[in-house]
Amino acid sequence: MSELKNDTPTLSADEKLNLLVEFGARISCELRLDKLLDIIAQQITRMLNVGRCTIFLKDGERKELWSKIAQGRGLEHTEIRLPLDGNSIVAMVARTGQSINLPNAYEDERFSMAVDMVTDFRTHTMLAVPLKNNAGKVLGVFQVANKADQQPFDKKDEGILLLLATLAASSIEIAKLYQDVHVAQLETIYRLAVTAEYRDQQDTRSHLKNISIISYLLALALGLSKKHAELIKNASPLHDIGKVALADHILLKPGKLTPEEFEIMKSHTVYGGRILEGAHSKVLQMAHKMSLYHHEKWNGNGYPHGLKGEEIPLEARIITVADVFDALCVSRVYKKAWKTDDAYRYILAESGKAFDPRIVAAFKRIYASVRKLYSAKNADEKQEPAQPHHPISFSPSQENNTAEN
Ligand code: C2E
Ligand code: SIN
Ligand code: SIN
Ligand code: FE
Repeated sequence: MSELKNDTPTLSADEKLNLLVEFGARISCELRLDKLLDIIAQQITRMLNVGRCTIFLKDGERKELWSKIAQGRGLEHTEIRLPLDGNSIVAMVARTGQSINLPNAYEDERFSMAVDMVTDFRTHTMLAVPLKNNAGKVLGVFQVANKADQQPFDKKDEGILLLLATLAASSIEIAKLYQDVHVAQLETIYRLAVTAEYRDQQDTRSHLKNISIISYLLALALGLSKKHAELIKNASPLHDIGKVALADHILLKPGKLTPEEFEIMKSHTVYGGRILEGAHSKVLQMAHKMSLYHHEKWNGNGYPHGLKGEEIPLEARIITVADVFDALCVSRVYKKAWKTDDAYRYILAESGKAFDPRIVAAFKRIYASVRKLYSAKNADEKQEPAQPHHPISFSPSQENNTAEN
């Protein structure tokens, strides 16, 4: 066992201090939980000189431990979940709050190969320590495998890992809270948006999702930052929120609206603007611009204010392309669905008229992805359960996967 190799002393106060300072500096500024966990795992891998570090967090609701495992190149992460009451090593550490050190992992029947299978990695030696907060509550487990010198983990390793876990705990707690608030905010926005669209659309969810995705891809294609694009993505479902103020006999009219009725219909932009006016959060401020200006046209012939060209906020110029494209592709009480390619030709034809030519040019560049999204739409709707949890979260790679199904 590890106790046999006791030639390495435990950490000196100086060593501890240096470790803490360096580690603390690197993890203290990161609020995004996934990023934070990546950084912590990287730091630990380097500091302990191990083949791998895996961080498991407790999901109290589902009574599970989960970890996102980076896989292959790029950003693909696979989520591993293990039952908290199971007999895996990490579950035992989480339950007992005691470290477990395995000099030969595969010979221990408690060892779970779930992570090895995902990463195509063979664990030889393994050390798992509890991640506890200030109050002593277990938040998860830090697990490391395979020291570079091929020796079993010893007391010094355990000391370092426990120290790093202690230091990481508060950053992880803060990032988790921050994420919970963010998810709650997105969920609220999404549910509000569904409310607005509920009456006049059979396929509210896919409509909102598609508009989000198209807006996001357009923003990226225009060279906006990922952060800005995500804000656009998250705000876009609210663009028609003002429709809540419209009477059924207008919104749900099966045929063409009379000019008077259309005048009333136009007011959904103004209502949306009022509903979202003076918002404090960035995402609602963005949604305010989008809902108020998403029917303005590049040539000045839109509503409610007849703004022209760059007087129209960029985000509204983006969503209008996404909105019209999607509106054409689906059926409404008043119209049949167009073919995807016909809708595409319409968007191109409106360049410089309804739409900003730069955004139409960007739409051309993303059209291959958009087309896939719409050809996969039927299959997609059937597969997807009603899931408010990460209502509009996606990444371009995931979206391509869906599109290819
Ligand atoms: P919406 O159905 O979400 O459509 C959004 C926008 O997509 C429309 O804005 C329009 O620019 C474009 N669009 C949708 N369908 C067509 C189409 O068949 N042909 C063309 N060329 N463009 C289309 P718009 O026109 O300002 O309308 C705003 C909203 O007013 C629509 O949102 C819809 O809720 C309502 N609406 C518009 N026309 C009618 C209608 O004839 N009957 C009814 N019941 N509602 C209508
Ligand atoms: C930007 O505003 O960040 C550049 C893209 C644009 O103005 O359309
Ligand atoms: C940006 O922040 O990237 C562009 C600002 C804008 O045009 O709204
Ligand atoms: Fe609208």
